[in-house]
Amino acid sequence: MAVKQGAQLTSLDVMRDAAVIPVIVLEDVRHAVPLARALVAGGIRMLEVTLRTPAALACIEAIANEVPGAVAGAGTVRSAADVQAAAKAGARFAVSPGYTRAVGEACSDRGLPLLPGVATGSEVMAALEGGYTELKFFPAQQAGGTAMLKAFHGPFHDVRFCPTGGVSAANAREYLALPNVVCVGGSWLTPADAVKAGDWERITALAREAAALRKP
Ligand code: 3PG
Repeated sequence: MAVKQGAQLTSLDVMRDAAVIPVIVLEDVRHAVPLARALVAGGIRMLEVTLRTPAALACIEAIANEVPGAVAGAGTVRSAADVQAAAKAGARFAVSPGYTRAVGEACSDRGLPLLPGVATGSEVMAALEGGYTELKFFPAQQAGGTAMLKAFHGPFHDVRFCPTGGVSAANAREYLALPNVVCVGGSWLTPADAVKAGDWERITALAREAAALRKP
């Protein structure tokens, strides 16, 4: 499937491109382009670069400008100001650890697909009120894992989730088997030591394994 280059994406486009969205922490802007190329080489193109480091926005900008096969998104988006900064840097989607109306409105005003984080029924309802039906379940493993998602499926049958937090190659299949899970998120594709060492082959191999995961 071709990524819609330049065209506006929907949350479902972001979730359906591959079964895994990598959660990326980059300390050094020089790592951004080779890391993104390594992930794309392994078949992973939707890249969530978390706004947790001073280099994050520059990394998003570098990936957006220099890696045409990748779609750079911003993670750890916590405020409307984060949304503006991420969009200015070239982010084409946003992921947040929680839901606030300010973040939801800033994203919808800009036409930026958002996966807002939720962990409780009240949070799901707040996100629904904001018009969001594709949500990140965070922190997935700590907040009840697959059992919680099964429980959500009754009252929130129209909501689709990207569980993130404690998800890995070892348990991703259990999440993907659930009817209300479209994809999962996780940091296991980009281990900090591999990034630091520039071990891009290892990252391509991890991406390839993740890209081979499918919903059953
Ligand atoms: C995060 O925001 O750090 C993500 O949830 C990643 O969690 P993980 O490191 O457990 O994959």
